[in-house]
Amino acid sequence: MKIIAISGSLRKASLNTKLLELVKAQATAHDVEIVSITDIPLYNSDVEERGMPESVSSLSDKIRAADALYIATPEYNYSTSGVLKNAIDWLSRDREPSKPLGGKVIALAGTSAGMSGTSNAQTHLRHTLALLGADMVTNPQVLVAANYEAMVEPSDMLKDLIGNQLAAIERRVKMHG
Ligand SMILES: Cc1cc2nc3c(=O)[nH]c(=O)nc-3n(C[C@H](O)[C@H](O)[C@H](O)COP(=O)(O)O)c2cc1C
Repeated sequence: MKIIAISGSLRKASLNTKLLELVKAQATAHDVEIVSITDIPLYNSDVEERGMPESVSSLSDKIRAADALYIATPEYNYSTSGVLKNAIDWLSRDREPSKPLGGKVIALAGTSAGMSGTSNAQTHLRHTLALLGADMVTNPQVLVAANYEAMVEPSDMLKDLIGNQLAAIERRVKMHG
């Protein structure tokens, strides 16, 4: 199974990117490629009229070719990050007949400083992605609260949870045939 993984945080020491690295380490039987959204410009239809930026078409093509998309989101003010929403806005404008997010198996995870563990962020993100036609893997949920402690030395419980989520993604991908 080929999975493209995106972090909703751009900073070098991002704990959400660290969470993706943990997913990659747990997914020994699968090919997980972490792709940065740092080069994606702010959405502007004037820019779009001049043609899709290379960073957007490259990400679209990678997602299209993958079996599944895995997103780790931080929680910013009870929602997902602006940079992640911006990337999704660009992806939703892809002009190819086969849309990168439409029908794509997508799973979410996230880690935040507060006790919600990105529950609010994931709810908003799931809503947007489901309305774009994604096939959301909603169970189990990977919510990592109090991340300044929890992500220092990730627990075996978290590793098991990620393992269960990867198995759920695999089952869903197999259903797609
Ligand atoms: C603008 C901003 C808003 C934030 N809002 C929330 C929030 O609503 N809930 C929460 O638990 N943490 C919040 N945080 C803390 C982030 O969850 C925390 O910094 C997290 O580690 C960011 O993800 P990263 O480590 O992947 O960069 C906020 C941080 C920033 C910068």
